[in-house]
Amino acid sequence: MENLTNPAFRGTFDPADGVAVLTFQMEGRANKLNQVALEGLSGALDWAYALPGLKGIVLTSGHRDFCVGADLEMIQAERDPARIFEAVKLFHGLHRKMEKGVPVVAAINGSALGGGLELALACHHRVCLADARIQLGLPEVMLGVLPGGGGTQRLPRMIGIQAALELLTTGAQLRPDKAKAKGLVDELADTPEALLAASRAWIAANPKAKQPWDKKGFVWPGGVQPGTPDARNLFLAGCAMAYKRTAGAFPAIESIVACVQEGAGLTFDRALEVEGRRFAALVVSDVAKDMIRTLFFHKQAADKQEGLPRVEDHGIRKVTILGAGMMGAGLAFVCAKTGFEVVLKDIAADAVERGLAHVHQQIGKLKHLDDAGRKAIADRVTGTLELEPCRGSDLVIEAVVENTRVKHAVTRETEPLLAPNGIWASNTSAIPIDDLVKASAHPDRFIGLHFFSPVEKMPLLEIIAGAATSDDTLARCLAFGRAIKKTCIVVNDGYGFYTSRTFSAYIVEGAQLVAEGHDPRLVEWAAKTAGMVVPPLQVFDEVSLNLGKHAIEQGAEYKGAEILEAPGVKLVFALAAAGRLGKIANAGFYEYADGKRKGLWSGLSEYAAATPEVTGLDVIRQRLMLAQIAEVGRCLDEGILRQHRDAEVGAILGIGFAPNAGGPLAYADRYGLPALVRDLDALAESCGDRFRPAETFRRMAAAGERFFEV
Ligand SMILES: NC(=O)c1ccc[n+]([C@@H]2O[C@H](COP(=O)([O-])OP(=O)(O)OC[C@H]3O[C@@H](n4cnc5c(N)ncnc54)[C@H](O)[C@@H]3O)[C@@H](O)[C@H]2O)c1
Repeated sequence: MENLTNPAFRGTFDPADGVAVLTFQMEGRANKLNQVALEGLSGALDWAYALPGLKGIVLTSGHRDFCVGADLEMIQAERDPARIFEAVKLFHGLHRKMEKGVPVVAAINGSALGGGLELALACHHRVCLADARIQLGLPEVMLGVLPGGGGTQRLPRMIGIQAALELLTTGAQLRPDKAKAKGLVDELADTPEALLAASRAWIAANPKAKQPWDKKGFVWPGGVQPGTPDARNLFLAGCAMAYKRTAGAFPAIESIVACVQEGAGLTFDRALEVEGRRFAALVVSDVAKDMIRTLFFHKQAADKQEGLPRVEDHGIRKVTILGAGMMGAGLAFVCAKTGFEVVLKDIAADAVERGLAHVHQQIGKLKHLDDAGRKAIADRVTGTLELEPCRGSDLVIEAVVENTRVKHAVTRETEPLLAPNGIWASNTSAIPIDDLVKASAHPDRFIGLHFFSPVEKMPLLEIIAGAATSDDTLARCLAFGRAIKKTCIVVNDGYGFYTSRTFSAYIVEGAQLVAEGHDPRLVEWAAKTAGMVVPPLQVFDEVSLNLGKHAIEQGAEYKGAEILEAPGVKLVFALAAAGRLGKIANAGFYEYADGKRKGLWSGLSEYAAATPEVTGLDVIRQRLMLAQIAEVGRCLDEGILRQHRDAEVGAILGIGFAPNAGGPLAYADRYGLPALVRDLDALAESCGDRFRPAETFRRMAAAGERFFEV
């Protein structure tokens, strides 16, 4: 028999053991599930099943990844649920065909995500290459949809209801060893050769393989059987926990729980239909469209730095981090891990000591490296109180205290030690770069690199170009951002840049609502119902009220002293004066016991006005969200934002803006610009000028425009 080649699969057959190997390899760099892939798989299965003497099939990949899931361009473009349901049925049908024929083994030689993992779950057995770069999981929920290729039905029947719900609702991605421990894969193999050999061996040993759920008397793993009181309790608790997490703002999570619950009481094929219908409903929803646009397409464009000045070589070898505090220590680790030589300088010996301890603690977490690998990173970092070791740095990232005078002083002192063509970057949260640059002798090589805390974890880097920052400096910093694997947005200069301004509008509005007498519990819950990742009072406590107070005072220098008169600002200052500084002080808007957050502090009411006549979730939610949207509008008017995608990516990745909205501009689109302008005008009248709608909004509303296509 001839070998097979189609646009998605290659097939070879060895009559000696009767095993056909189907290699998934679409044109381009990755396997994505779309029409071509499904037709290819269908053709490949037909080819294999016609082979005389076929005993089994091994499914593997010719790309670096096994399969990274559905083709999101196809999903994003589709608005017709019936067509989606039809496509899903086709995929389900192919899976069922595989399950009912000869033994099929997935030889997973690269990451298997979403529909890619679902394809593997529909095989009778899974062997995975034990390679730490490989990830397995069903991350659909992160994009507002659910696994529509049988994942919500096979996974619970494979690893138990509770374990499956955990993976499905969090979208967790696991390395091969963890995936094996959880039961997502059955075997690990050390080399690609061993992977294929193990797959063939399993076929030889299991000629009559059947999926557990297709066997008579199937017993669900994990101890809980559907239809029992235990199962009912589990789903009841699951629903309650899901709602506590989502506050109803992330319909995919609730739909996943419902899918598992409904499916558990049905025959397998009916259960797949339930999943297909729920999948189709989510795919066409605004939430999914907005999440996919921002978290996939915009983020990808930001990661590729599309439309931004580019150099391949940043020319940076040695980096000095000034200030070994919270930010400096994290920066030192991230830079050393990437391979830069790092000098971590402070003026206090204990700060250097603590900074280095933090670096070493982070290095200790790099379990995929051996001792030598970890030591190599540690050896790249030098802590110092001296200036001389900073000499010859190609990049200085200044992360000293947030104070213009101090920042000017360190610039004057250290900039002369830069290598020729070296770059000076400030990690200031808010001070305009054009103010900081006044102490510099090389304004063209002066820039803002605003990182987020904790630096090791937070994916965003907000790059601020000052008036004099050269394109070359910007391009080199973008290359540096790529090297340290951060998603970059580039904004123009102005107090608070983009992210700090928007974030501050959010948390100060939270405080303002409390001061006006709205119930703080409603304030927190309203934010969650809008999808905000952390409620405003909780996050205020985490940032610390002292830092907030400092930032507000600094802001007053730029925005005018009248902002200090707002009741919300006065509340923050009063709490700070009373020592309620937030989490670090074990007391803030919340009460704490041993560092753990308990309830909201009952004494807050003493600092607040009487409950206003008009209050409630809707009123509060609108204020919390529109305070931010109004600020984002001003960032557009003032030219702080250069691209719409940066507004979306920056808000979600940097400050925990509601991912379900797709970002502030998508939020504005969904609100409807004419309605937004009308409501902002009304709020400006009743609550103050901070709500005044941007000219950009007015112009677009009048012209019937929107920020993004539907
Ligand atoms: N903490 C955050 O979440 C965050 C986020 C983004 C940006 N930032 C900004 O990063 C900067 C640092 O913030 P942080 O939270 O790490 O502060 P921090 O107080 O934890 O650390 C500041 C460090 O700078 C040191 N320092 C002071 N003067 C110095 C000098 N002349 N030379 C060298 N070191 C000196 C201090 O000893 C201290 O160790 C600030 O500008 C802040 O606004 C902070």
